[in-house]
Amino acid sequence: MPEIWGVSSSAYQIEGGWNADGKGPSVWDTFAQKPGSIPGNANGDVACDSYHRFEEDLYMLRALRVKSYRFSLSWSRIFPDGLRTSLNYKGVEYYNRVIDGLAANNITPMVTLYHWDLPQALQNLGGWENTDMIDIFNDFCDFCFATFGDRVKFWMTFNQPYTIAWSGYGLGQVPPNIKNPGIAPYRVAHNLIKAHAKVYHTYDDKYRKSQGGLVSITLSADWVEPKDVNVLREVVAADRALQFKLGWFAHPIFKNGDYPDAMKWQVGNKSELQDLRETRLPLFTEEEKSFIKGTADVFCVNHYTTKIVSHVTARLSPPSYEHDWDFSESEEGDSPTTAISNQRAVAWGLRRLLNWIKEEYGNPDIYITENGVATDMKTTFDDINRVFYYKTYVNEALKAHNLDGVNVKGYIAASLMDSFEWVSGYTVGFGLHHVDFTYPNRPRTPKRSAHYYYHVMKDNEIHI
Ligand code: NOJ
Repeated sequence: MPEIWGVSSSAYQIEGGWNADGKGPSVWDTFAQKPGSIPGNANGDVACDSYHRFEEDLYMLRALRVKSYRFSLSWSRIFPDGLRTSLNYKGVEYYNRVIDGLAANNITPMVTLYHWDLPQALQNLGGWENTDMIDIFNDFCDFCFATFGDRVKFWMTFNQPYTIAWSGYGLGQVPPNIKNPGIAPYRVAHNLIKAHAKVYHTYDDKYRKSQGGLVSITLSADWVEPKDVNVLREVVAADRALQFKLGWFAHPIFKNGDYPDAMKWQVGNKSELQDLRETRLPLFTEEEKSFIKGTADVFCVNHYTTKIVSHVTARLSPPSYEHDWDFSESEEGDSPTTAISNQRAVAWGLRRLLNWIKEEYGNPDIYITENGVATDMKTTFDDINRVFYYKTYVNEALKAHNLDGVNVKGYIAASLMDSFEWVSGYTVGFGLHHVDFTYPNRPRTPKRSAHYYYHVMKDNEIHI
């Protein structure tokens, strides 16, 4: 059974106080404040107002009796322009209050150092395309270890680096909204991996002995099921999809310091198509490989849904970077729909994903750091779809643990409460608690799923 049950959130999604007490703007402030970016021109200026209402969050966490709370630090609340020269004490005080409040209630903090809200000043320097970011991020994390590490023992560097690289610099759907699919994401990912490794070594060299915590990175993966398990190229396409999405980061960090072969064949130095395409996957030096390999103490993964994957040879004519992975995705049509159109509730996908991770990366300790489902914001209490989702997903996680020998150590439900859901604004919510965003005091009320999850955590098992 998992040793840790918890719930999650992230700074930009809940805090509000976007310019309170000296906080600097982040790329998400800039993007969401621009009219037309998000449905209803929604933004995170106030969100759940957790910057001013953390005591109310703590009240919910206590009532749920969670063991852990996963939240993120807003970098520009601590360093308004991203650099260590610009320290904002009020920001530090806020996180001290959060961490101490949790400690006073025996709730373990799980802290994400970067959940997408890059200080705007650093984007102005080129953001994650600039290799200087490796040292700048390391400085920020070093400060956080020194300041909060006496009480925080579970650190995650990046949340979903795939999303940062691909959605931010490839598809251009989220800040910094750069649409350069074949080139920028590979460069960005290269920098993110090096930055992660550097931070891990900083912790190792300076803090591990005195603080005794652990450091990881939160990866994300849908499960992908081949369209036809009896057709080899469909099976290979599904594996390739996992390598491109999860292996992109997991292979260097958990395996050998380098990208998966499937990526090298497709877009790297082993590509058969080098005459048609330049090599776009950057190379790690031997020294970099040994620096990167093994830089995570546990495996953290966010998981929401399952897709069906099929082989397509889209890159040949005409070559299109957006399709250079040679697979297409579709919905798993037999499972219940959710409020996000392409996210079906496919619980068995979680068990398969956990087993894939176990086989691929040598049975690591796994923390499911986000798992959850969206419902329409109008669902204020009776979220039976979410109860169904947790019932079936937790069941599959327990099967993976109890029957398959997967080392599932923790399960974190996403999320504590409805919040600013990125490009969907406030149209859908993942919360166990409803938040009424039409009231200035943002009242929070438990949904049916909060009651259900309370019993799951309390008894450490699924309730039928
Ligand atoms: C993953 C992200 O980490 C989280 O912030 C977001 O709320 C969920 N996806 C749901 O879209």
